Amino acid sequence: MADVDDTLGRVPLFSGVKPKELKKLGKRMTERLFSEGDTITAEGESGLGFFVIEEGNATVSRNGRIVRSLGPGEFFGEIALIDQGPRSATVVASTDLRCRGMTAWEFKPFVEEHPEVAWALMETLVERLRAAEAA
Ligand code: CMP
Repeated sequence: MADVDDTLGRVPLFSGVKPKELKKLGKRMTERLFSEGDTITAEGESGLGFFVIEEGNATVSRNGRIVRSLGPGEFFGEIALIDQGPRSATVVASTDLRCRGMTAWEFKPFVEEHPEVAWALMETLVERLRAAEAA
């Protein structure tokens, strides 16, 4: 199996992170396994995790309606960690799912140390905002 940092290197969010830093990141992010049907974030509730999908798929629902499917290399859980508010959507594993996770208290310092990640994060946030506005 590929090294964790090789896998993380293929995640677009981390494409600007240098190999040495990716290695450190691989150590900071722990493997999180979910079974098909597991609810990982629940809309309106609080949450402490940020997740990058390594294998499998998940659906994102808002107000009971599926708005997106997420797969390998994509991430979720950033919104509640940025504003410490409730989860904006429910994310359910639509297959067995292997993720790498980071806690809220690890996420902020990591993003602050890596402006290239902050920008990539903003790009995805804007894309999600536009999709939510268009829905
Ligand atoms: P958060 O609000 O912390 O928890 C639910 C997550 O679902 C949210 O962070 C985003 O990562 C993700 N999410 C919310 N809305 C969308 C969307 N329109 N498209 C893709 N992902 C979304």
